[in-house]
Amino acid sequence: MVKTTVSLIKADVGSLAGHTVVPEPLFKVARKKMAEAKEAGLINSFYVFNAGDDLELLMTHFKGESSEEIHALAWDTFTAAADKAKKLKLYGAGQDLLVDAFSGNVRGMGPGVAEMEFEERRSDPMVIYAADKTEPAAYNYLLYKIFADPFNTAGLVIDPRMVSGYKFEVFDAYESKSVVLKTPEESYSLIALLGTTERYMVSKIWRASDDEIAATASTTKLALIAGTYVGKDDPVCMVRGQSGFPAMGEITAPFLHTYLVAGWMRGSHWGPFMPVGLKNSMCTMFDGPPRIVALGVQISDGKLASDDDGKPMIADIFEDLAFDLARREALDLASHLRRMGEFEPARLGPGAMEYTTLPQVLKSLESRFKKV
Ligand code: 13P
Ligand code: 13P
Ligand code: MG
Ligand code: MG
Repeated sequence: MVKTTVSLIKADVGSLAGHTVVPEPLFKVARKKMAEAKEAGLINSFYVFNAGDDLELLMTHFKGESSEEIHALAWDTFTAAADKAKKLKLYGAGQDLLVDAFSGNVRGMGPGVAEMEFEERRSDPMVIYAADKTEPAAYNYLLYKIFADPFNTAGLVIDPRMVSGYKFEVFDAYESKSVVLKTPEESYSLIALLGTTERYMVSKIWRASDDEIAATASTTKLALIAGTYVGKDDPVCMVRGQSGFPAMGEITAPFLHTYLVAGWMRGSHWGPFMPVGLKNSMCTMFDGPPRIVALGVQISDGKLASDDDGKPMIADIFEDLAFDLARREALDLASHLRRMGEFEPARLGPGAMEYTTLPQVLKSLESRFKKV
């Protein structure tokens, strides 16, 4: 049977009012490019949306993961939107496009990528996550809760197809290598790695019983590619749901509460991760708080399941009032942290701050230090 690929590729190509939000003219450029590609038969369906100031291209096709044609389409779409942003003198036009020319795969060129190829089941629900003002490891806690914590995911305890657990691929961003750990047997070791969010992040998850792909997340760390701060990574992630995978409600249950992630203002602060619907997908106060949207979709015959007019049907999950408590907690925590200004732990530790403009400030003081 032909396999379907879901690709979610994103970039910050410029935004309205600083790093706040992607404005309509950029969506228009992206939708046009995507519609042309659909017309040409390259992709089967698409949905263009935003996570704050990041432009998100969700596509389904039959070309497999890391397809040069699909990546070229994404790059071409981003450069066209960046050109529009430059014309409008929007902020940070072309921000995440770190190289001048496309060379086969957008990985390592700035954009974030999450892709998975699978044989469709009788029905294939997914949650598409996209975040702004944070880094890929923001998904560590979330993915651990969904796939390894029986207090979050009832299926790990009561669904016979899930009790054998999951395998996590963990990427070491400092040394560009990865390791696979199996839960529940190795869950403590897994936390030992995933708790170090500056360095380790989840890249893929498979169901242990049959190695079926369950989740994937982007691992791009812009500062490590550029060697300097160019904006935060603002990662994407996709999770398959139901029938032997966590139920849709188990995938979003971690957001009953907020938790802290690195990013926020100037990519330099711990901030509460705030789940929001698409209409609140913009970063405002102190350039945040870091936000995440969750789109529920169904993959159907190679496409995003669509309505009678051919429009993809999207469940804007975090729009629901069930996530109000997490939002309130997030704002409460935000107010506590902001009272601390630039004092750690509100500000990130020295390792992460190396890639910001802080070292320049510290350097200017160097000559004034006297040996004691
Ligand atoms: P500038 O105001 O110098 O662009 O930097 C602040 C910022 O937004 C960092 O991304
Ligand atoms: P983005 O990574 O979303 O562009 O934000 C950059 C920033 O420095 C915000 O303060
Ligand atoms: Mg930006
Ligand atoms: Mg952003």
